[in-house]
Amino acid sequence: MKTPILALAPMAGITDWPMRTLCAEQGCGSTTTEMVSAQGFLQAPNTLNVYKYLLAVHPDEPRPKVQIFGHETGYMAEAAARLSDTGLFSGVDINMGCPAQKVVTSGSGSALMRDLSQCAAIIGAVRKATDLPLSVKMRLGWDDAHINAVELAQIAQDLGADLITVHGRTRMQQYAGSANWLEIAKVKAAVSIPVLCNGDIDSAQSALKALEVTGCDGVAIARGALGNPFVFAEISAALRKEAYIPPTDDEVVATAIRHGQMMLAWKGEHSAVLEMRKHLCWYIHGKRGAARLRTRITAADTMQEVFDLLAQFAALQKSAD
Ligand SMILES: Cc1cc2nc3c(=O)[nH]c(=O)nc-3n(C[C@H](O)[C@H](O)[C@H](O)COP(=O)(O)O)c2cc1C
Repeated sequence: MKTPILALAPMAGITDWPMRTLCAEQGCGSTTTEMVSAQGFLQAPNTLNVYKYLLAVHPDEPRPKVQIFGHETGYMAEAAARLSDTGLFSGVDINMGCPAQKVVTSGSGSALMRDLSQCAAIIGAVRKATDLPLSVKMRLGWDDAHINAVELAQIAQDLGADLITVHGRTRMQQYAGSANWLEIAKVKAAVSIPVLCNGDIDSAQSALKALEVTGCDGVAIARGALGNPFVFAEISAALRKEAYIPPTDDEVVATAIRHGQMMLAWKGEHSAVLEMRKHLCWYIHGKRGAARLRTRITAADTMQEVFDLLAQFAALQKSAD
């Protein structure tokens, strides 16, 4: 059996280059940018800013896939072609799973799953527009009465897609309930291209279980990697049947500080402090004194203040041992 693919699933506002870099260092083998609107990208008045922020790729990170969303075949194909030409990306991923009202109302994201002929038109056009590996990320379907991931996966395969990622929930479920891996197993059984299982995988235990239940070629992890890029090392160790030693509190804090340093170098003091708040809350989640630290981090104005607070926090963890 081939070694399963360990992927970081795309997350808007989160899977930027610092996050992708940290996950790749821990053994994540496939990363994707945040989703970018095909139309927005093409019409952005200052395309350079798109590359500076939303689609920034660091020269030292493994090349990520770029994820595009939209509902118009022409825009999707043109954006895929232009993005492929940059040489920045290792593949193009089409978003057919986003449940956000704003995205769905425009007919994009998971709304596409209500119109498989439009899905086919988009996948076919994007396939023609890029020579890069093409993947499609989908949900199970619109709602429980309309589960059609198998059909969409077959369409994608027939049109030349190279990989499918399936989030085991419907659009109407949003993030409620639990991911239905048994439905993902049906998709895996129906196509011969690789399928990644996505939804509720946040540890070696859940990854091994998902792989067993679905027979998938790998797993894609989103929320399980928040404040925890180490999840990829944990799963890699389990796949090699090796013991895993979780990071110490010092190592977690050191990683959080590196995350902050990357953000600072990229976005400057003000934005970095704001952006890092959420990440830092995830890194310290569940640890002693986390609530108090959260309040103090939220009030901090400079990255140095944040780093000092984290150092104090690491010391507190040790004194509690
Ligand atoms: C904050 C957030 C942002 C997300 N943004 C995207 C996105 O841009 N593109 C996408 O395909 N999925 C996006 N997702 C969905 C995730 O990729 C993933 O399918 C979902 O969270 C289920 O996986 P998980 O249980 O590992 O979190 C997002 C999820 C979250 C929580």
